[in-house]
Amino acid sequence: EHLPALLRAMPKAELHMHIEGSLEPELIFALAERNGVQLPYADVEALRAAYAFTDLQSFLDIYYAGASVLLHEQDFYDMARAYLNRAVADNVVHTEIFFDPQTHTARGVGMETVINGLYRACRDAEIEQGISASLILSFLRHLSEEEALQTLEDALPLRDRFIGVGLDSSEVGNPPEKFARVFGRCRELGLHLVAHAGEEGPPAYIWGALDVLHVERIDHGVQAEKDPVLMQRLVDEQIPLTVCPLSNLKLCVVDSLAAHNLPQLLKAGLKVTVNSDDPAYFGGYVNENYLQLFEATGMGAQEAYQLARNSLEASFVAAAQKEQWI
Ligand code: HPA
Ligand code: ZN
Repeated sequence: EHLPALLRAMPKAELHMHIEGSLEPELIFALAERNGVQLPYADVEALRAAYAFTDLQSFLDIYYAGASVLLHEQDFYDMARAYLNRAVADNVVHTEIFFDPQTHTARGVGMETVINGLYRACRDAEIEQGISASLILSFLRHLSEEEALQTLEDALPLRDRFIGVGLDSSEVGNPPEKFARVFGRCRELGLHLVAHAGEEGPPAYIWGALDVLHVERIDHGVQAEKDPVLMQRLVDEQIPLTVCPLSNLKLCVVDSLAAHNLPQLLKAGLKVTVNSDDPAYFGGYVNENYLQLFEATGMGAQEAYQLARNSLEASFVAAAQKEQWI
């Protein structure tokens, strides 16, 4: 069967991954040792055994604990280079990487430490491996809008090192409207705008992300299926959805990959993409997401090409660059 070979080999973009979610247990323990950080897990096996999630929050608690080993610029650099190596191996030609500065600044890590380490990794990977990589600063929605505004202020001296902003963390109870002012300010600044919406939250959160935050893409968005008017809007405006199949499975958003609605969303004409979200926690990098999804749903080569093309088209790279890939 050559579908798996096609899925692996086709050039693709990854548009939804959190760099802190690429920290493999082995690297978490290596950094803990290097930095003298005490972890509430005895070893790599004990940490991996805790990766049995029931919903988004049960994952976030462990994900934030894992990120506590990141202290120095070199730690952020090493984490990002490890992810970029995996992306290159999966024939990712372009990636837009989320980072959560508040997870680190709250522990006393400097904003410049975070951004400079990640940015240097992106530039070195570009030069040495030919992958294109950009950063998207993501606000934590369980925190206040004032804290998001302060985070933006702290990052503005490094404005040229990230291309946009996103919104992640605990969705239900933290609707997009809570961040209307900070996204308005980012819009004035000419930053690209995206937000997680409709992962666990209702279609109303997708409407809010579009109409109040004015986002250009929806991260996840799988709950759109419940609202036919919203579905039509997403088709008409070709708003990209950055879907993460293994994440949805591991966080119990879907009961099985066979039951995932990505094939239906694609068939309905939405601009769907496949992404890994937090590959170290959810059991696979982007190619593993394609392979397991296609195995479970029976999609074929035509859908594979469509998804890869969508990922390149939905990226924030210049049109001239896209034409070289598509
Ligand atoms: N949803 C919300 N916040 C996140 C996620 C996610 O899937 N991954 C990392 N932070
Ligand atoms: Zn995500």
